[in-house]
Amino acid sequence: MPLPHVLLSAAVSLDGYLDDTGPERLLLSGPADFDRVDEVRASVDAILVGAGTVRADNPRLLVNSAERRAARVAEGRAEYPLKVTVSGSGELDPAACFWHTGGEKVLLTTDGGARRARALGIGADVVSLGPQLDWRRALEYLHDRRGVRRLMVEGGGTVHTQLLQQELADELQLVLAPLLVGDPAAPRLFGPGAYQGGRLRLVESRRIEDVVLNRYLPTAPGTGERVAAADRHWLALACELAELCPPSDTAFSVGAVVVAADGSELARGYSREGGDPVVHAEEAALAKVDPADRRLAGATVYSSLEPCARRASRPAPCARLILDAGVRRVVTAWREPDTFVPGADGTGVLTAAGATVVVLAEYEARAKAPNRHLEG
Ligand SMILES: NC(=O)c1ccc[n+]([C@@H]2O[C@H](COP(=O)([O-])OP(=O)(O)OC[C@H]3O[C@@H](n4cnc5c(N)ncnc54)[C@H](OP(=O)(O)O)[C@@H]3O)[C@@H](O)[C@H]2O)c1
Repeated sequence: MPLPHVLLSAAVSLDGYLDDTGPERLLLSGPADFDRVDEVRASVDAILVGAGTVRADNPRLLVNSAERRAARVAEGRAEYPLKVTVSGSGELDPAACFWHTGGEKVLLTTDGGARRARALGIGADVVSLGPQLDWRRALEYLHDRRGVRRLMVEGGGTVHTQLLQQELADELQLVLAPLLVGDPAAPRLFGPGAYQGGRLRLVESRRIEDVVLNRYLPTAPGTGERVAAADRHWLALACELAELCPPSDTAFSVGAVVVAADGSELARGYSREGGDPVVHAEEAALAKVDPADRRLAGATVYSSLEPCARRASRPAPCARLILDAGVRRVVTAWREPDTFVPGADGTGVLTAAGATVVVLAEYEARAKAPNRHLEG
């Protein structure tokens, strides 16, 4: 199921705190960074905060710039992004600014929370997601029912921690402020628990007055059928690699990446790479990995097109090469059409041998783009 692009946004002290324990909200960044946040808010479809932040900070979560609001309206979008909060208890103050400013609001909650919120007279769409609040279902609801494609999450720590641990965060925008809190009772950005094993990818670092904005992408693949946010990043990269293929009228243009379970890239490749007129993307990528590399057993192969099941040009099709390498998970954007090989079913070959194949159809158009000339 497609989910919104989830962007976690927060400012933290040098010792990793989101706030102190004083009655006023601790200001971690300055005017230029607040303006940057305003710009990000103006770019998204919805802004989400946890009920803890609504209670602690009483935020309004508006797009403050009139020009940015006017630009949204000119693009046919709502003047303000949808405001979303999550609460299990439904124990929220109906007088809070959250409900009385900006545009549409929704409270995502549980059956019990919905009863309590309605009894309190909360001024928003109150949506129960069942006896418990499940984040994947919450994101599906926002995507499918509210048309949210980009979601900005502005805290607090409980919400950020769950979204990152559940591998639902596509991007982190962290502002590091040059001050220390030092109070163990203050809220931390990320709490204890299981996170991805390896390193996140730093994609931007920018000084803004005396704070630094760092943007990170998670890198660890999902497991089995479970899709992690990083799966989408890697498949998008495979689609970009497909654009590098020397053109051909007799073969597809495909990109592939091999990624270890901890998010380390093991290799990448694309069709006809390096002047070999028949090499396939998965084959080119796997050829760069030491077959004795133990990480292959837990790795995922991302391929813009389903790995081939049969081929005339080489003895082994890519589905077989993947299995022989020990890889048991493949993520692809596009099932192979009958263009060159009727009834090709690389997925069938892979799954018959116990591998999992995940198709993220939302990337199909990108995978097809460098192959447009073959459609007919
Ligand atoms: N520096 C920054 O950028 C920044 C940004 C935002 C917030 N903050 C700070 O962060 C602090 C608040 O953080 P926080 O961790 O206490 O609160 P939070 O993450 O804002 O909200 C936590 C609350 O959200 C609801 N919730 C979250 N996950 C849920 C789930 N899976 N199921 C059901 N309900 C769920 C629960 O509400 P119920 O209790 O109602 O069930 C929970 O108590 C404040 O001090 C605020 O100033 C800082």
